[in-house]
Amino acid sequence: MTRVFSGIQPTGDLHLGNLLGAVRNWVTDQHHNDSVFCIVDLHALTVPKSPGEVGAKTLELAQTLIACGLDPELCTLFVQSHVHQHAELGWILQCNASFGELNRMTQWKDKSGRQKEFVSAGLFTYPALQAADILLYDTDQVPVGEDQVQHIELTRDVAERFNSRYGETFVLPRAVVPTAGARVMDLQIPTDKMSKSAESDAGTILLGEELSRTAKKIKRAVTDSDNEVRWDPTGKPGVSNLLGILGACTGRDPESLADDYQQYGPLKSDTADAVVSMLEPIQARLEELRSDPGETNRLLAQGADKARSVAAPVLERTLTSIGLQPRA
Ligand code: AMP
Ligand code: TRP
Repeated sequence: MTRVFSGIQPTGDLHLGNLLGAVRNWVTDQHHNDSVFCIVDLHALTVPKSPGEVGAKTLELAQTLIACGLDPELCTLFVQSHVHQHAELGWILQCNASFGELNRMTQWKDKSGRQKEFVSAGLFTYPALQAADILLYDTDQVPVGEDQVQHIELTRDVAERFNSRYGETFVLPRAVVPTAGARVMDLQIPTDKMSKSAESDAGTILLGEELSRTAKKIKRAVTDSDNEVRWDPTGKPGVSNLLGILGACTGRDPESLADDYQQYGPLKSDTADAVVSMLEPIQARLEELRSDPGETNRLLAQGADKARSVAAPVLERTLTSIGLQPRA
């Protein structure tokens, strides 16, 4: 079976873009593949955090992912710091990645530039830990957004270098990027991706927000003034975004959906209804999970056991390839 691995940071709240562009694909994948999903709390530490912050966000993210349909019986869902092999292999891969390679990473350049007070060394070596996440599971496919492709390429390069230095050890993974239609844009600035770091939240739909707010945000979405409903992401980004969202929620093709509408008003209210009906059951499940955090913690502990049973032998294999003195 194909091994699929992806990771998500416990920072910020999940939004509709995360759901339609990533999490929904994971939910489908878990039925066909051997899927492993990791909440990468150690990666979250690359920018300064206050005590307890990452832990609280980790629980919340786990609850949200389960509410969205990740089923810990079908997939492996776990927390990175619960499986110590990640940090260990991370170190070894830091020693097999070059300074120059890491220095070329776009995310490093962006994030270190934005970080004013303190740029951690971990932010620089971040991709080596990400490579460890992936390689520990003999991963074939890594479903990620476009922005992560460079990190997956680096993972392959480091794995190939390691294999040629020490002998065949790692499976070479490849990135799987969802098709363009799965890109959800900001409702106020439809040329920007919907993002948790947007300046105002008027353009972002959070999965946990009050649904009356969700409907309002969609009804106030920026369109244009030519009053024609047509699929044209470049020329009509606002209208096309609504068609894209409605299409993603209803399983219809956005281009043909356009034929059903003459005016923006009905398109907006149908889109709002579709999003609200999609989020309603997710929120109901989230409420249940929040009322019993022990249950989620139990599922995460089980997930970590499953993850460890794959990761531990791969780390052992790696140490053997390098030829470190074995433990007596
Ligand atoms: P991020 O929120 O940037 O950490 O991304 C987590 C996952 O959600 C990644 O796989 C992204 O590619 C995906 N994602 C984030 N924002 C969007 C968006 N606006 N549309 C589609 N997918 C997104
Ligand atoms: N760097 C990824 C992001 O910012 C998160 C991540 C960490 C990841 N480890 C991973 C993604 C392994 C895929 C595979 O979105």
